[in-house]
Amino acid sequence: MLFIGIDLGTSAVKLLLMNEKGEIRNIVSKEYPLSFPRPGWSEQNPRDWWNAVKDGMSDLLRYDSAEDVAGISFGGQMHGLVILDAEDNVLRPAILWNDGRTQEECDYLNNTIGREKISACTANMALTGFTAPKLLWVKKNEPEIFEKISKIMLPKDYIAYCLTGIHCTDVSDASGMLLMDVKNKCWSKEMLEITGISESQLPIIFESSAVVGTISDATAKELGLPKTVKVIAGAGDNAAGAVGTGTLENGMCSISLGTSGTVFIASDNFSVDKDNALHSFAHANGRYHLLGCMLSAASSNKWWMDDIIGTKDYAGEQEKITKLGENHVYYLPYLMGERTPHNDPLARATFTGMTMDTTRADMTQAVLEGVAFALRDALEIARAGGLEITRVRLNGGGAKSPLWRRIIANIMNVKVDIINSEEGPGFGAAILAAVGCGVFESTEEAAKRLIRVVETTEQDPELVEKYEQRYRTFTALYPALKPVFKKL
Ligand code: XUL
Repeated sequence: MLFIGIDLGTSAVKLLLMNEKGEIRNIVSKEYPLSFPRPGWSEQNPRDWWNAVKDGMSDLLRYDSAEDVAGISFGGQMHGLVILDAEDNVLRPAILWNDGRTQEECDYLNNTIGREKISACTANMALTGFTAPKLLWVKKNEPEIFEKISKIMLPKDYIAYCLTGIHCTDVSDASGMLLMDVKNKCWSKEMLEITGISESQLPIIFESSAVVGTISDATAKELGLPKTVKVIAGAGDNAAGAVGTGTLENGMCSISLGTSGTVFIASDNFSVDKDNALHSFAHANGRYHLLGCMLSAASSNKWWMDDIIGTKDYAGEQEKITKLGENHVYYLPYLMGERTPHNDPLARATFTGMTMDTTRADMTQAVLEGVAFALRDALEIARAGGLEITRVRLNGGGAKSPLWRRIIANIMNVKVDIINSEEGPGFGAAILAAVGCGVFESTEEAAKRLIRVVETTEQDPELVEKYEQRYRTFTALYPALKPVFKKL
C-alpha cells in the first residue's frame, strides 16, 4: 500500500509518497506564485494549488504503481480564507496566514466585542492572520463577494474538496479560523453570529486521521489513481509537522523553520494562557497543542539570499560565518509584520548595528540569528507559563543548515534533535493517511515505529552565555522602534 502526503506550503506544494513500512518512495515539489498586492497583504490563487497538485502527481508515481495508492492526506498552510460560490467556484484569491490587512477587524473583535469573550468562544484572541477577521474584512470591503459566499474553507480543504467534492476540514486547522470552539471541537454559535455567517457555509469538522470520503470518479481518472483511494482529513501544517517529527507526547516541543517559524508544544490537556500569548489549538492526535508563530523565518533568509545579495549558494555564504556569539549586527525579521509575540502587522524588518568593518557574512549571520532570537521570544512565553523546554525537534527547510541548528541550540539554550525524515508536514500527512487506512492504530504507534532521532546539536555553555546578552539587546529593539514602524 502507498500513501500520499500533500504539504500545501506558501511557496510550493510538496507531494510525498510513503509505503506502509513508512519508507519515503519519492518527493515532488511544484511552485506557485505568491502575490503581495499591497505592503503587508498576501494572496494566492487556490486554482494554482490544485493545478500544482495535479502537475506533480504523475512525477510522484513515476517509480511505483498508482494502483497501490490507498490514501491521501494533507498538511496545509493554516488560516487562509478560501471562499466559494453556490457552484463551488472560487470567489476571490485566498487571503493567506501572513496577510496583515485586518487590524481594524481584529480591534473590533478584541476591543468592541472583547478579547475575553472571543477567547471564551474560541480559546484564542483575534489576530490579523486568522480567518474570521478576514471574513469581516471581505464583508466590509467586498460586500458583493461576501453576499455570494456559499462555502468557507482553508487551503488544504480546498484540495480535499477538489479530490472528493466534499466540504471538510480537520480540528487542528479549524482551530486557527477563530470560528471553532477549540475545547469542544465544534463551530462556535456566537462566533457565527458575530461574523454574520451560518453553519451551512462551513465545512464538516473531522479528526485529522479520519476518512472524509473517497476520491471522485472524475478526479481518479484525471490523476490516474484508483477509485478506491481514501481521502483523510489531514492537519494544519504545524500539527502535521508535529506528527511527522513525532511531537505527540505531553510537553514535547518542535520548531519549524519554514516560510513561517513556529514553536509547537504538544499537550494532553486543553489550556489557554490568560493573555492569549500563545495560540491554543487542537492537535492532529486527538489532543491539543500550544503554538507561537513568527511570520518570516526561513523566508527572511530566502529574501536576504535570493533577492538582496542575489545568490542561491546558501551553504557557501554560511561557510564564511565563523564568529558565533560576537556579531554586533542585529536583524529584526518582521518583513510581513509580526505575530508572536508582538501581534503587530505594522512592524518591519530592520538591520541595526553596522559599522565600517561590517561584512556580508555578518549580515547573513544577523539574519540567521534574528530569526532564532524571534523564535526564542515564543519559547520564553511558554517558559514563563511554567513549561520546561530543554529539547526540540527541528523541521522545515531551515533545519537542513547545521550552522542554523547550532545558532538555535545556543540562542534558545535547548538540545536540537533532527529526526530521520526532514519532511515534517508531508511525512506527517502521509502518516495520517496510513493511520486513516488502518495501517497503524494511532499516530503514536506510527511515530514509535517510524520516527527516530538521528542527530542532536547540543549547546555550548560559553556561547549560550554570549547569546544571552545579545538576546537582551535584541528584545530592546522592537519597543524602541515601534513608534517609528507606525510612521512607516
Ligand atoms: C501558524 C501559521 C503558519 C502557517 C504557515 O499559525 O500561520 O505557520 O501555517 O504555513
